[in-house]
Amino acid sequence: MGGIFGFVCRRPQSCEIVGEGLKRLTYRGYDGAGFCLLDEQGKLVVRKVAGHLEKGWERLSFHSYSSDVALGHTRYASRGVPADFNSHPLLDCRGRVAVVMDGFVSGYEELREELRRRGHRFVSTTDTEVLAHVLEELLERQDLKGALLEAARIVDGIYSAAVALEGTRGLALISKGQPLAIGFKQDCHYVSSDLVSLSGFADEAIVLEEGAGAIVTPGSVEVFNLLTGAPLGELVRKRVKYQVESIGKGGYPHYMLKEIYEIPEAITRTAASLMEKYLRLSAMIISSARNVIVIGNGTSLHAGLIAQYYFAELAGLNVNVVSAAEFPYYALKNVFTGTVILAISQSGETSDVIRSVKLAKQRGAVIVGVTNVLGSRLTMHSNVYLPISGGPEIAVPATKTFASTLTALSLLAAFTGLYTGRTSESKLHGLYGEITAASQLLKEELPRQEERVSRIAEELAGEERMYVSSSGISYPLALEGALKLKEAALVHAEGIQLGEMRHGPLAVAGKMPILIIEPVEEQATELYERVLGEIRGRGGRAITVGYRRESHIVIPRLSEVMVPIVAAVPLQLLAYKIGALKGLPIDTPPGLAKAVTT
Ligand code: G6P
Repeated sequence: MGGIFGFVCRRPQSCEIVGEGLKRLTYRGYDGAGFCLLDEQGKLVVRKVAGHLEKGWERLSFHSYSSDVALGHTRYASRGVPADFNSHPLLDCRGRVAVVMDGFVSGYEELREELRRRGHRFVSTTDTEVLAHVLEELLERQDLKGALLEAARIVDGIYSAAVALEGTRGLALISKGQPLAIGFKQDCHYVSSDLVSLSGFADEAIVLEEGAGAIVTPGSVEVFNLLTGAPLGELVRKRVKYQVESIGKGGYPHYMLKEIYEIPEAITRTAASLMEKYLRLSAMIISSARNVIVIGNGTSLHAGLIAQYYFAELAGLNVNVVSAAEFPYYALKNVFTGTVILAISQSGETSDVIRSVKLAKQRGAVIVGVTNVLGSRLTMHSNVYLPISGGPEIAVPATKTFASTLTALSLLAAFTGLYTGRTSESKLHGLYGEITAASQLLKEELPRQEERVSRIAEELAGEERMYVSSSGISYPLALEGALKLKEAALVHAEGIQLGEMRHGPLAVAGKMPILIIEPVEEQATELYERVLGEIRGRGGRAITVGYRRESHIVIPRLSEVMVPIVAAVPLQLLAYKIGALKGLPIDTPPGLAKAVTT
């Protein structure tokens, strides 16, 4: 699983190109990295390490190698522990077939046993290795294309794979449900798991459709149907024109902190760059929908839950919010012609979102995508999409893209309100003003908040469990605060509605700190005070984030719409600070990936 990047060129190139390409794909996984190349005699040379590409960079030593064919991989460990021997490429018994894969093989245990019985030696515990051994057998009696077709039939699953072979100056590709693009430049062809990573390398690219195979040589790209072998003809070439920004930590100890400090700029950029015609088009589609289902995972799901309040408040619409991981199992049944799916994904690559979008489209739904990455699969599958322009986000715990996504969603809800009659042009205009004001306020407040939160983090750094609780529009924020504590501080945190604290959780209230975000809605004031009193009355420790001077962390009182954007910051800072005090790998938490792409 993970990211694939390789090249086939007319003349030898430095393998650093593969390293650079893989750097852009580490959001897909960072449990291992590796590459292979063909030496002058046509033999395969393989180098691989466990762990993050950056950590393994020296050992991999990309710059010491050059070749006309090279193929690399950055791994997300879903089958087999992170270890050198499980990193890709994986080889056949004789080291003549090298395979990298993104996705998973179904029923690989049986296949592996069968191959073992026939004398194959396995050195990894991954599912990918079966493909190398299957190809090893098939290549003894067939040419490359024939073997590829047969292997794709035998090795079932949802994956894309790239194969390098001893003595073959080219790469063979299989696309079975995971993305794979081929980039074109005058003297080189590139292969990658996404279009964005091809920026600066290729001018144009094609994306292989599910069920397509390809053989890429320096002078040709043959694309064919994996079932029949029939050529697929000329696929539409897309221009590769994404911006490659030089990304550094800019003096901050971690990307997460840098990205929190980028929030003020990110939200004004989102508001300024979202084109009105696309907001109006999306709003028109949503306002005339039969039903609207919002989908996303993780932080994007929480942004979707906040959007539910935005649509109710600004457009008078009730929308359903469903985790994209659950959507296919029950919500899909209520998708018809006339349904609108509002799909949210920072990366635009999360497989649950893409799968749900594809299934909903088959049932006649219209897809409105909200994403930070142009050229991502979500942009390709959406009927209309809104780019949030948050700028590159490197840390796995999402911060500035959460703020940018909320900004985009608030504007979308307000534009929808123009069509439903709930929002006036002047109210919409006012929202743009609120975004600018919130940005300004955050810019001024951030250093003070960081200082204040640091002290609280010191008090909490030894805690292993926490509750985060709130009500109304701040409830999804409590879920997001708890998620940040899990990701950045490795604290078992649970987000819960304030009112629900009284229905069970109070039994353990004395056992862990409870972070309470004061609800912004006036009607919830009484509830807030009552629950706070009950927690304290049972000897519980409440840490308050609110608008009163006596709050442990004071936040400015803004409109309901702006609160989630601004109040998320101290929660993000708290998780960050606890993680930093514990010396954790905050930007790359163990077992996670920026986007779960399989
Ligand atoms: C992964 C990350 C989460 C993220 C989620 C959704 O699970 O670990 O931090 O929120 O994916 O990512 P997306 O790119 O779809 O917003």
